[in-house]
Amino acid sequence: MRLLRVLMRSAPLTSSNSTHSLVDFYSKFSPSPLSMKQFLDFGTVNACEKTSFIFLRQELPVRLANIMKEINLLPDNLLKMPSIKLVESWYSQSFQEITDFKDRNPDEPESIRDFTDTVITVRNRHNDVVPTMAQGVVEYKDSFGADPVTSQNVQYFLDRFFMSRISIRMLLNQHTLLFGGKMKVNPAHPKYIGSIDPACNVVEVIKDGYENAKHLCDLYYMHSPQLELTEFNAENPGQTIQVVYVPSHLYHMVFELFKNAMRATIEFYAESGNYPPVKVHVALGNEDLTIRMSDLGGGVPLRKIDRLFNYMYSTAPLPRFETSRATPLAGFGYGLPISRLYAQYFQGDLKLYSLEGYGTDAAIYIKALSTDSVERLPVYNKSVWKHYKTNQEADDWCVPSSEPKDMTTYRSS
Ligand SMILES: Nc1ncnc2c1ncn2[C@@H]1O[C@H](COP(=O)(O)OP(=O)(O)OP(=O)(O)O)[C@@H](O)[C@H]1O
Ligand SMILES: [Mg+2]
Repeated sequence: MRLLRVLMRSAPLTSSNSTHSLVDFYSKFSPSPLSMKQFLDFGTVNACEKTSFIFLRQELPVRLANIMKEINLLPDNLLKMPSIKLVESWYSQSFQEITDFKDRNPDEPESIRDFTDTVITVRNRHNDVVPTMAQGVVEYKDSFGADPVTSQNVQYFLDRFFMSRISIRMLLNQHTLLFGGKMKVNPAHPKYIGSIDPACNVVEVIKDGYENAKHLCDLYYMHSPQLELTEFNAENPGQTIQVVYVPSHLYHMVFELFKNAMRATIEFYAESGNYPPVKVHVALGNEDLTIRMSDLGGGVPLRKIDRLFNYMYSTAPLPRFETSRATPLAGFGYGLPISRLYAQYFQGDLKLYSLEGYGTDAAIYIKALSTDSVERLPVYNKSVWKHYKTNQEADDWCVPSSEPKDMTTYRSS
């Protein structure tokens, strides 16, 4: 903190200069990953708005500054895109508003009240970051096309950027849900600790995701596949599977997977009009809770699987923002990559296994133990810098030529 005081005492700076220096300053700290257990403990035993204020006024600028430094490493042409500039301005403004609290007295109730209001403002300001960023990528592709180096950098960056956003929103949500309203307890979910359900009923969330995806599917295609759901609790045989988790994150993942599975099934069986069910199996083991969703929607060739998680590739068709009434089952192609980030956020994962011509299995892995569920956070350091600057080297694997060589030429010579 001594460094901060020195910084504060230095010659008067313009607002934008001082923001730059503060971003530099806070980006030198590594974000502090919290475990699910810490989130829970803080929400129950130690739930105190003042402690949360003191923690967040340091941690939020650290997380924001770490990712703001990384935005600057993007190619200049991408940074010039209007939507990317807009997102940058939101980050800058929010960073400024939160760091304004660094000298406020935590013992004054007014400071705490103002801070909670600011947290809500910041959260709302960033609501549309994902579609706006996607729009920025489309703007870039329209102007400059998509070369492999930029695509690789954008992939690396957006995975880290959206992960950072998920983590920042988690902190903002916990603070506002615990302290933002008059009631500490959420009347709709009295057992939740902020956004966390200490006994999240996985099957219930899956059914909820299915029903909402089915609703969209019926609206769009007038049909939808049935759901077949089974669960296997190896830890407590016969009992319903429960896990400490953020139900909205789990819902997001299964809803996206259902939309994809339903769309593939309906389109693959369009001619017969006889749609095979989507099968979901949930298993709880020692370490992992796994949700496998299997469809018979014709699958995807192996060559294309990685592309399905690629932001630059996905945004090929323009997002259809205006189709909110009859929402299509496929939007701007961020369903899979963002869902994978939600799974990875608490050290899980999301994978696709496809049998081309037949169907696809999607698997969500979640840590079974809350002590293993620790935030996975990007950090800004030299390796990150190197990643952006050095991945332009030549490929170290031979590229097969598209035309097979005429072997007879070799034989005769
Ligand atoms: N179960 C599946 N079977 C066949 N193809 C699939 C399956 N899941 C995904 N895909 C393919 O992967 C693509 C990318 O999926 P993703 O969910 O990321 O984006 P999207 O569905 O196109 O749009 P949205 O952002 O609305 O989800 C899909 O457009 C589809 O072609
Ligand atoms: Mg999708």
